[in-house]
Amino acid sequence: MTLSKADLRPVDWEDGKVKLIDQTRIPDEFVTLEFTDYRDVVRAICTMQVRGAPAIGVAAALGIALGAREIETPDHAEFVRRLEEIAEEFRCTRPTAVNLFWAIHRMLQTARANLNLPMEELRETLVREALDILRDDVEINRRIGRFGAELIHDGDTVLTHCNAGALATAGYGTALGVIRAAAESGKKVEVIADETRPRLQGMKLTAWELRQLGIPVTVITDSMAGWAMSKGMISCVIVGADRIAANGDVANKVGTYSVAVLARAHGIPFYVAAPMSTVDLSVPDGEHIPIEERCPTEVTHIGGTRIAPEGVAVLNPAFDVTPAEYVTAIITERGILRPPYTEALRGLPE
Ligand code: MRU
Repeated sequence: MTLSKADLRPVDWEDGKVKLIDQTRIPDEFVTLEFTDYRDVVRAICTMQVRGAPAIGVAAALGIALGAREIETPDHAEFVRRLEEIAEEFRCTRPTAVNLFWAIHRMLQTARANLNLPMEELRETLVREALDILRDDVEINRRIGRFGAELIHDGDTVLTHCNAGALATAGYGTALGVIRAAAESGKKVEVIADETRPRLQGMKLTAWELRQLGIPVTVITDSMAGWAMSKGMISCVIVGADRIAANGDVANKVGTYSVAVLARAHGIPFYVAAPMSTVDLSVPDGEHIPIEERCPTEVTHIGGTRIAPEGVAVLNPAFDVTPAEYVTAIITERGILRPPYTEALRGLPE
């Protein structure tokens, strides 16, 4: 495997700047953006230059550390007040991926817990905290990969939806991390990637990443998943998650629910790979997960060209919820969880 090429750092910090791989340009171009203004990081999350639940969380953490540098006040209470305003701008970017809110909370907590420090040290502490979140994410993904690889057999073909690879995280990936770990352990594994309408993360990002890794990948349109399953072409499904409710319901890229139901109908295991920071125990079930509604032009236009009749009504929920009953197992950095998830998620040791 040509792993080095895909050892991506999609979100990074260098010389006081936030660095992002512009995911809207892949696969055509590989462009790294550098930001010195936190507002540009806010914009990059909104426009999906950085996307994927863990990557959004890390980008927000680094963005808050960046924002802290422009708060010029000797007064610690005023510093926190202004940091909270910056945090609020990040909170408003995307509503579904809970990693965003988790990372913002961690940054604010760090600020409040270190108000005794001189201002410059406090700002540096926030940079260190954001970098800890980044490094932890890569390590967590590797652990998810090691656990999940046990579920993949030599010769398997895995169906995945959207992109839950290195690009969607601080590195290595969750669902693709599992596939990658299985391949690294010597198993022969192939992937079928749903293209993932409307923004095509499966075709553009997942297929690109897997090709970098040298793992065989075939792209299908989303509507072909049932056909592929009926032909016996799929051994299991592995997807990532944007938020997992306390009962195990999973919000992920729209279309995931259809894949889960199809998998059940064909007796195919449906696995979700996600870090514990994606689990939101404050939300009892999927009904309570806020679902982002995005711009209709994502559906009506392809590459800037309108393909729908002018004025037609459009729905564009970015995510759907897969009820826990369709989820065979949830692969986390603390191990593989099986139903009933209410008990499994609550009972996990720290
Ligand atoms: O809208 P996106 O591209 O941010 O949605 C991403 C997904 O749904 C991913 O599958 C999910 O965040 C898991 S990423 C490890």
